[in-house]
Amino acid sequence: MISIVIPTYRESESVQQTLRRAAAALWKYGDEFELIVVDDESDDGTAEKAESLQNELPVRVLRRKGKRGLATAVVDGWATARGDILGVMDGDLQHPPEVLAELADAMQRTQADLVVASRYCRGGGSLRWPWWRRVASAAATHLAATVLPLRLSGMTDPMSGMFLVRARAIEGAELTPIGFRILLEVVGKGKIGKLCEVPYLFEKREQGRSKLGARECAEYLMHLARLAWSTGQLRKWMRYTLVGLTGAVVNLSALDVMAVKAGWPLAAAAAAAIELAIVYNFFGNWLFTFSRCPAGPFARRLARYELICAPGAALNWLLTLSLFGVGFPLLGAAAVGIAADGLVNLTLNIPSIWKIWGPDLH
Ligand code: GDD
Ligand code: MN
Repeated sequence: MISIVIPTYRESESVQQTLRRAAAALWKYGDEFELIVVDDESDDGTAEKAESLQNELPVRVLRRKGKRGLATAVVDGWATARGDILGVMDGDLQHPPEVLAELADAMQRTQADLVVASRYCRGGGSLRWPWWRRVASAAATHLAATVLPLRLSGMTDPMSGMFLVRARAIEGAELTPIGFRILLEVVGKGKIGKLCEVPYLFEKREQGRSKLGARECAEYLMHLARLAWSTGQLRKWMRYTLVGLTGAVVNLSALDVMAVKAGWPLAAAAAAAIELAIVYNFFGNWLFTFSRCPAGPFARRLARYELICAPGAALNWLLTLSLFGVGFPLLGAAAVGIAADGLVNLTLNIPSIWKIWGPDLH
């Protein structure tokens, strides 16, 4: 049985059509199903409109007191669900309900634990989204990949609010999300083996208004911080930073030995010192950050690591040489270069660096 939760807050103009189209799609698909509307005390009659369809469609309505957030609405809905497959979709028709049948079909065909409707895999997209929302969405997606680098690898749209998950994959997991992003909680806390994606077009909102505001953005950051803590990622970042700091010492001392004591040309000495630090960081992270897991093959992993670190390293080299050229003391110039390099690695490169040690290096 498939149980689909539809969280609603002030969606009186679209909830009935959402339910009708979802039911039609799932009837056509053929499996038994239930639709669970979780409404947070909407004052526009959303819950009543959903309840009025209870005789026609397999619909239940859960009413919560106060506006308590999208993601917890989904958790509360799932807690009352009877299906072995759980799902979620928006109630404002931005998620075309017909896609539910495609998700169910893909889950059946691939035996995946999680099937996500994605805007960013081939064939997907979002209609008439302003550029700033696209940029914000890309930044939010990158941030999520920085917090859950391995669990989100291979997932093109971790912000998606339309997916199916097998109940057994999240059985026993304590889901305590804040804000909008229930999928992050599911991949962060659940035991998801196989993932499958289905493309879809995120429609323009025709009725009602979006509830994604400043408060939800702040909640998103809090949610990520909590996931960083509960998944152990925070500890890994701290270890990674510690390795990076000792790597900075390696870089500076090597530069001092080669350029000052041995008298090498500065360009060569700076390049060699940076390279030495990269190799030090690579093995330092393997030993300390990733607790020697997995063991080898090192050549390909190191080659990939060098490639990822190359832009930051080039910046480091350029800054060291040019700042020294304009009168900085050598080690001061190198320290600025190293800081810029580290910043690039921390902000942009974590997802790709983590994947080097991930299980699926191809
Ligand atoms: N019960 C409840 N409580 N429902 C809520 C709440 C709440 O506090 N806040 C929002 N909802 C419901 C809305 O009524 C709607 O059905 C759904 O959650 C999504 O809310 P929207 O406000 O329409 O979200 P959006 O379109 O801006 O954002 C959507 O962006 C993603 C793509 O980036 C998300 O909702 C995702 O589901 C979607 O995939
Ligand atoms: Mn919406």
